[in-house]
Amino acid sequence: MLTAKELRQKYLDFFKSKEHAIIPSAPLVPENDPTTLFTGSGMQPMITYLMGESHPLGKRIADSQKSFRSGDIEDVGDNRHTTFFEMLGNWSLGDYFKKDQITWMFEFLTKEIGLDQKNLYVTVFRGDESLNIPRDDESVGIWKELFKGVGIEAQDVNFAERDGMQDGRIFYYPVEKNWWSRAGVPANMPIGEPGGPDSEMFWDFGVERGIHEESAWKDEPCHVNCDCGRFMEIGNNVFMEYLKTEKGFEFLKQKNVDFGGGLERILAALNNDPDIFLTDIFEKAKAEIEKLSGKKYADNKEAYRVILDHLRAATFLIGDGVLPSNKDQGYFVRRLIRRAVRFAHKLGIENNFCGDVAKIFIEDYKSEYANLETDQEMIVAELGKEENKFRETLEKGLKEFEKYIQIDGKVIFNLYTTYGFPKELIAEEAKERGVEVTTENWQEFEELFKKHQDLSRTAAEGKFKGGLADYSEKTTQFHTIAHLMLAGLRKVLGENVHQKGSNINGERIRFDFSHPDKMTDEQKKAVEEFVNEAIESKTEVAMEEMTPEEAKNAGAEGEFGHKYGDRVKVYSVGEYSREICGGPHIKNTAEIQGKFRIQKEESSSAGVRRIKAVVE
Ligand code: SER
Repeated sequence: MLTAKELRQKYLDFFKSKEHAIIPSAPLVPENDPTTLFTGSGMQPMITYLMGESHPLGKRIADSQKSFRSGDIEDVGDNRHTTFFEMLGNWSLGDYFKKDQITWMFEFLTKEIGLDQKNLYVTVFRGDESLNIPRDDESVGIWKELFKGVGIEAQDVNFAERDGMQDGRIFYYPVEKNWWSRAGVPANMPIGEPGGPDSEMFWDFGVERGIHEESAWKDEPCHVNCDCGRFMEIGNNVFMEYLKTEKGFEFLKQKNVDFGGGLERILAALNNDPDIFLTDIFEKAKAEIEKLSGKKYADNKEAYRVILDHLRAATFLIGDGVLPSNKDQGYFVRRLIRRAVRFAHKLGIENNFCGDVAKIFIEDYKSEYANLETDQEMIVAELGKEENKFRETLEKGLKEFEKYIQIDGKVIFNLYTTYGFPKELIAEEAKERGVEVTTENWQEFEELFKKHQDLSRTAAEGKFKGGLADYSEKTTQFHTIAHLMLAGLRKVLGENVHQKGSNINGERIRFDFSHPDKMTDEQKKAVEEFVNEAIESKTEVAMEEMTPEEAKNAGAEGEFGHKYGDRVKVYSVGEYSREICGGPHIKNTAEIQGKFRIQKEESSSAGVRRIKAVVE
């Protein structure tokens, strides 16, 4: 059996031998992508290159990318879901296409790591008339040849979701299954987004591993994309050749390949056991939890899986600079740690243990992710701090239950946000105490939570758009100044000026905005005067929540083509500035000590200017 480390190495070596440049994993927090909080797949950091930007290392790239999917938190507990995983990836940036990709994948899986081709099944795109994109017969032909080469007559079968497997090996599926873009199916893709049909590979663990007969969908046939547990997707070859435009789909500048395969899942296939928590990755951490709790994995799978997944994820996230907090990415780290501690509590682990488990993961991963070792002390300390905090509130939170005979949505929301109790824990604790929670109570909670989420999403976007290096006092002051500067620019240069990006720290503001021409000295002076007047006027900075529509009517600056949540925050500095933003901002311009000055104004890219400004 290969270990995770060996598998990762074999994959990278294999693609190196096919002339790929091996790049290190990008951080879990995207560097230049305001559309998402976390790096959730290998292709995310590659997007500009897939669009045609040339990559400094050439047209063939491969890596193992650490990934985090926050949407999967509540799903962890079964045998295959994790929030954190490593995605093995390779890319052709306008170089090779279907033939090489599929051939190499088949060679890698069946020869290089020795997966038995008998248990390998594949899917391809069915084609879609409304999109004017044909069925992927080319991939089918390639797969057939390859299977034939190892003595398997691979049948292609359509509508397996309706008619079952029919002794097929290659299955056609529609856009819901065999189309890939960051936004999902074609209908959800924004204009300008790349995507394409894909061909996925599945491992068959055997009928006996599935729970099809007991499932809710037992009257439908079992097929490779069925959720019964018999099959597991182990890799996805995306043939990214399309761009969504106003007129429909057009070809991208280049035909790309984007492959992504879960390291943990391929290991599970090698193990021929769908439980990824049985791979070597979790072995030592599991032994530690068994030692601390005196309870066995086999009898407490859900709790173990939550603890193992969440602490591995939290270790990596903190290592990438995400500290537990109530906001943005930090909020997820907090939830991960709290859920892990609560489940540990259930296993009878009463003392702090997160740091010890983190050290085990760090030891295993440090050769690949050196930052974990460098930051070990900080990671362990942050876990400890959060664990202490939660252990304090845990008792208080549990006491909250005793106050109620019935808990309504507001109490649930409070337990969820203030005490950090995950939903299923609230339900379980309530049940154990005989406290009633009705469907209406949960609905009320969901509504409150949705509102809260929209706000925090807006806050997160504001943060990225605002490009703040931190939340220090100085940076916050500069953030408010950036709003004033944008308002000044719009006043002096015209309403066509909009923010294009910014990077703010406690020392300076770097600010990009749309404007075709170099600014004159007079214009710069006028903007400086506008900002300095606002500073001297000691004006209050006010925040109001409203719908995007109301914000627009109130004359707030924002990207209205852009999708906001149901509600947004609008920051106003008297009549000087009004802008949609997640904050944070100072309370009054009087807090700013000194005079605002534009240090430099230069071209950033076509039609975009860049200002560097300071307060002195
Ligand atoms: N982008 C594809 C995925 O995430 C393949 O890398 O599945």
